[in-house]
Amino acid sequence: MISPETIQQIQNRIDILDVVGEFVKLKKRGSSYLGLCPFHNEKSPSFTVSPAREIYKCFGCGKSGNAIGFIMEHEKFSYVEALRWLAGRYQIEVEETGASPEYKQQQQVADSLTILNTFAQQYFTKTLRESEEGQAVGMTYLAERGFTDEIIRKFQLGYCLESRDGFTKTALAAQYNAELLIKSGLTVQRYDQPSDNYRGRIIFPVHNPTGKILGFGARQIRKNDKSPKYINTPENEVYVKSRLLYGLYFARQAIDKQDECLLVEGYTDVLSLHQAGIENVVASGGTSLTQDQLRLIKRYTDNLTIIYDGDAAGIKAALRGLDMALEERLHVHLVLIPDKEDPDSYVHKVGAPAFREFVSSNKKDFIFFQLDVALKDAGNDASKKAAVVNQIAETLSRINKAEDFTRQQDYIRRSAEILRIDEAGLNTLVNQHIRAQVAKLESKKPGDAQAYQSASPELNPAPEQTQEEKDAFDLLNKEEANERQLIKVLLEFGDKVYEEGSVADFILAQFEDPDLFENKALYNILDLYRTQYLAGDKPNTKTFLYHTDPTISNLVINITEVRHELSDRWNTRDEDLNYDTIRKGYLKYLGKEYIVKEEMADQERYKEDVRSTVTYMQLKKIKKLMKENQKDMERAQSPELLAALAQTQVTLRDLALEMGTHLHLKELEIDMIRRLGTVIIK
Ligand code: GTP
Ligand code: MN
Repeated sequence: MISPETIQQIQNRIDILDVVGEFVKLKKRGSSYLGLCPFHNEKSPSFTVSPAREIYKCFGCGKSGNAIGFIMEHEKFSYVEALRWLAGRYQIEVEETGASPEYKQQQQVADSLTILNTFAQQYFTKTLRESEEGQAVGMTYLAERGFTDEIIRKFQLGYCLESRDGFTKTALAAQYNAELLIKSGLTVQRYDQPSDNYRGRIIFPVHNPTGKILGFGARQIRKNDKSPKYINTPENEVYVKSRLLYGLYFARQAIDKQDECLLVEGYTDVLSLHQAGIENVVASGGTSLTQDQLRLIKRYTDNLTIIYDGDAAGIKAALRGLDMALEERLHVHLVLIPDKEDPDSYVHKVGAPAFREFVSSNKKDFIFFQLDVALKDAGNDASKKAAVVNQIAETLSRINKAEDFTRQQDYIRRSAEILRIDEAGLNTLVNQHIRAQVAKLESKKPGDAQAYQSASPELNPAPEQTQEEKDAFDLLNKEEANERQLIKVLLEFGDKVYEEGSVADFILAQFEDPDLFENKALYNILDLYRTQYLAGDKPNTKTFLYHTDPTISNLVINITEVRHELSDRWNTRDEDLNYDTIRKGYLKYLGKEYIVKEEMADQERYKEDVRSTVTYMQLKKIKKLMKENQKDMERAQSPELLAALAQTQVTLRDLALEMGTHLHLKELEIDMIRRLGTVIIK
């Protein structure tokens, strides 16, 4: 337990503006501050912070609380974790009362380790500078690599003698116990003798953001040494690789000031860039970024620029952290260093100004970079391309936070362009991924039957292809886009005249079956529309724009935002699937005249939109009914089918008469495909 005194101390030090301000951009409005709520999707700010009352409140989603509550909510911390986080932030020492003995023990070990590490760092630095071997071997090597004395000092570099136990002996003599020495990784048992682990190596101390030394990286000097190039501190109470970034202690202020963090792979890259005056740089050690590391960066900036070698391994490592970076709402860019150089060698080669120039002009948005790589990889393989579409949708679905909504839309638009697919369809797929993530989160809630089910592999065998992958295929066939079009037409033209009634009357009568919709949220809108319409209202786009369910409001916003592209679908531009041809063929099949859109009176055009959309959806309905009929071969006729077909007015009335048996349906299907020249029927 954290002692009440410590809690009091934390509470006294808390500044809610400072705490909230770390995650939300706040602007002063009178006596309070206003920003975009981090807890729900919103486009205009309704999240307020009152420094006087020490609380935050969102008028959009209703969430409110104090600074501790904010940290708990935002970081998903427990109360104690939030307190620790705040204590760390304000450098308040946490006093434990009634903590378990194990926990206390662990804290003590952690403290001892950092004290030992400081001792070791001082010893190695002294060795580098003052011993003969340190000068002759260590300093010579560093000088050869072009590091200045200033940078060597700043980063507290050191040298470990070749001798078996120079350091270990000194540490033991200074009363550090052998067990701790081994835990720290500074000492290893070799032939039953405690020996120095980093013999004959350059020592790079690794600091936490406040300057405590957590561990070391030790680089070999001899060229033909068969041992690993670098040896790092083993994981222990303080050195947790996944939570640290080399150089952050020295880079913090520059990152904050320049609002950008550069990420490189190695220790020497950090040093050389610093030496060149580029100080907003940290290293990951060549592995992919973890969520903890991303959050660490996020404390200082939203902008992460990854600078890696152009080799494939480096790129792959870099790509791996991307989705998490998006979740952390980081804006990630990538720069690849050419010609087998790394940032260290490259900055030495071209100099600081050219390096900066190279970075700024070669910066590539990470998402598009990934897309390019994947597309090149997929080539002309349709299923690979579908996988790419699905992957990008999954990636984009992770940008799902309030302030990034327009960013997400922008990415969707540009990705659709690059992939040459329908933007509305990509939008749908992204939304599906969002829903899948929400469903997954929900199924994780304890006590939920679904969670129980998904925890059991027998009950839930891994599917060969996920729903999203299948949907990616569908997207390529532009299935779901039509549902959007239908809803769009309904929202936009609902109260206009159509046949004997209104467009709404016409559409609502046709679609009462939710199963007809791939996207259930779209059906929900239709259903909500129906309820309001029957109650005498005249719903339109605006009615749903501010709907309290964000799935609905987002969807409606999406539909209206992509309006332009949607109406294009009905023109002849699309090479893959020509809707005009479908319409033309279909109308001809029904013995009706095909009316060219352009020849129609402007005011009448919506009718054509209604007709084509509804027809397309009806075909789907028939297809579904055919499938059902197929299941039940005994029945010569499906009364259900006939009833449903009879319901579909106008265009399908003629068809209904011809139908009955499965055989007929199959013929009809084939015939329709032939006539319509399309892929409507799977
Ligand atoms: P120099 O060769 O001194 O320029 O080192 P570098 O920083 O360029 O190293 P490199 O690009 O080869 O590797 C990048 C980072 O990966 C290093 O800084 C280390 O953090 C890590 N690394 C490299 N080699 C090893 C190794 O052999 N073992 C371990 N554990 N880490 C390594
Ligand atoms: Mn290097």
